[in-house]
Order: sequence, then structure tokens, then C-alpha cells
Amino acid sequence: MIVFKQALSAYWPGNAELLGPAPLMLQEYSRGAGLASIPKAHSEDLRRLSALRDAPKAGQSRLLCRAWGLILATHTPTIRRPKMLIWLREPRLKGLTPGSPDFFNVQRQLILNRPLIRQCYDDWYRRLLVDARSAPEGGAILELGSGGSYLKDLEPALVTSDVVPGIAERVVDGRRLPFADGTLRALLMSHVFHHIPDVNVFFKEAQRALVPGGVISMIEVAHTPFARFFFKNFHHEPYDDTPPEWSFTQDDPMMDCNQALTWMIFIRDRDRFNQRHPGFVIEKLELLPWLAYFCSGGVTSRYMIPKFLEGLFIGADRCLKPLQPLFSLHWHICLRKRRE
Ligand SMILES: C[S@@+](CC[C@H](N)C(=O)[O-])C[C@H]1O[C@@H](n2cnc3c(N)ncnc32)[C@H](O)[C@@H]1O
Repeated sequence: MIVFKQALSAYWPGNAELLGPAPLMLQEYSRGAGLASIPKAHSEDLRRLSALRDAPKAGQSRLLCRAWGLILATHTPTIRRPKMLIWLREPRLKGLTPGSPDFFNVQRQLILNRPLIRQCYDDWYRRLLVDARSAPEGGAILELGSGGSYLKDLEPALVTSDVVPGIAERVVDGRRLPFADGTLRALLMSHVFHHIPDVNVFFKEAQRALVPGGVISMIEVAHTPFARFFFKNFHHEPYDDTPPEWSFTQDDPMMDCNQALTWMIFIRDRDRFNQRHPGFVIEKLELLPWLAYFCSGGVTSRYMIPKFLEGLFIGADRCLKPLQPLFSLHWHICLRKRRE
């Protein structure tokens, strides 16, 4: 069991202090193990593993864990998409342009009427609002990229926004926040950060507009082995964890994005983030329950869970917490603007 636990956490590069108790290997990889360094470390581990046949048992199992962890870290099989996936697409979204007001109206109804998805969004929104309310009182709370959000129903004082007109109260691009210096208490985002084409500009704008102690809180796509497999093979938005830079060009705000962005910035390039944006502290990076979301089909597929099974999936998600490092599809990240 210990070996299993170590192997589970060994693949996390650079996130020791945020993911709880750090086993030895996790600390080793937390020394800025960027993506480029992993394959080299991987082959070195395997070489040492095979050379260590006579070593004491503890050393062997430690190395075995490292090798196993790195295999999980580096290998993401890509497969041919089965034709059945076309049938799985939600029929009510057919013919609607992704990102249009009609598209988001349907998505909002899907979220509200499908208990498994509703349960995920309720949990995500609760987390965002806990962060927002932890910031000093007085400033505005802005949701970016609201889309089909119902966050305002839970916090009526919040201002909704989207880069596309006709969807929310304000038209706002994350790269140009139309707010005076120090007037925002919180910037909240669900599945939006990875759509912002130049996040360095976004961080500078957030630094300017937030009050000291204000937060950027987001729900984003995680980088567990299952998340990489799922999003690379079965999701319509790109998931590419290899580009060295964090920016991309955007013509279509829905499709031109990179779902691996938070992993690249907050784990792979953590040191670079801290150097470029020293005014922010990464306060939370927490993996989230995954089973209910996965079985629900998300907001673009058919919902096929019979009522009597819904409670079972929600309960099972709670019991499956130990498997989150392998399976979580999303994580919750909170950055706080330093007070000094
Ligand atoms: C995947 S949707 C998420 C919608 C909603 N927040 C949710 O969780 O269902 C991404 C949203 O980000 C918005 N978006 C894309 N680029 C943006 C930018 N540069 N600034 C602000 N929002 C942007 C899109 O218009 C879209 O509404």
C-alpha cells in the first residue's frame, strides 16, 4: 500500500507543498522538474533500477516507485476516436454555434437539469465564492467568461462578464479589465483561464485591478494521467502540455485555447511564474472529484445516467478521494495578491 501511495504521488512534478504530505520522490521532483527534464530523469531512473538488483529492498522499491511514477507522468496513449462519440453528442446543441448566446442558454439548462453536472458546478461555485469572500470587503467580484453560468444566482452582488457580447452583464476580455486600480475583490473563472491567449497580460491586469489580498480563483482542467488521456483523445478543445510559452493566437474564443495551460504555468514553470508575477501567491491547488462529472458526459454529451444511480455516483466520488491524483479531471486554483 505504501509503495502504491508513493507511486501515485511520484508523478507530480513541482507541487509538493500544495498537495499535502510529500513523499520523498515528490520532493525530489519538486526541484523544478520541467517537462523537458522528465524524459532524461526517466531513463536515468530505469538505468539505475536495473543496475540495482543487489541493493537493499528499500532502495529498490523507492526506485521502482520513481520509475513507475515517471511512466505515468510521461506516457499518454492517443487512440482513434470511436464513431459512437458522434452519437454521444448532445442533440440540443446540434446546429448551434459554440460560444453563441443560444449555445450558452442550452448549456445552462443542461447544467441545471442534470443532477450529476449540477452537483459538480455547485461544488465548483461554492469553492470560488469561499475564495471571493475571503478577500477584503469593499471591491467588486467579477466573473470572467460567464458563458452559461448561474454563479450570480448564488452571489447576486457578483458582476457577470464574457468576451462575447450578448451573454453576460459586461463585455470583458481578461487581457483588458475595465476597472480602476484596486477596485476588484475577486476574479472568478470556471473553465476560462485556458482560453485567455496571453495570460501574462491578464496577470498584470489582475495585479493592477485587484485590492491587496484580492484573489483570482478558478476551476480548471487538471493534468492527472486520466485527465491527459481523456482531454487529449475525447475533448473538442486542444490539450497540449509541450509548448514552452504560455501564449497562443486566438481567432475563436471557444476553440483557440490550451487546456494544459494551468499545469504548464503553476507546476511545470512554477519558478518562472513566481519570477514574472511576484505579486501573487499560489494559495490553493486542489484536485477535485471526477467520477460524477465523467459519468455525466459534461456539458456537450448526452446524459445517460438513470435517476436511481445518481446518488451512487455522488457517494462513490467521495470514497474515491485517494484516487484523485490519478483520475481527477479538474482542479481548483486560488492565487492571492500580496498585501504589502
Ligand atoms: C468553456 S467556456 C466556459 C463557460 C462557463 N464559465 C462554464 O464554466 O461553463 C469558456 C468561456 O471563456 C470565454 N472567453 C474566451 N476567451 C476569453 C477572454 N480572452 N477573456 C474572457 N473570457 C474569454 C468564452 O467566451 C467562454 O464563455
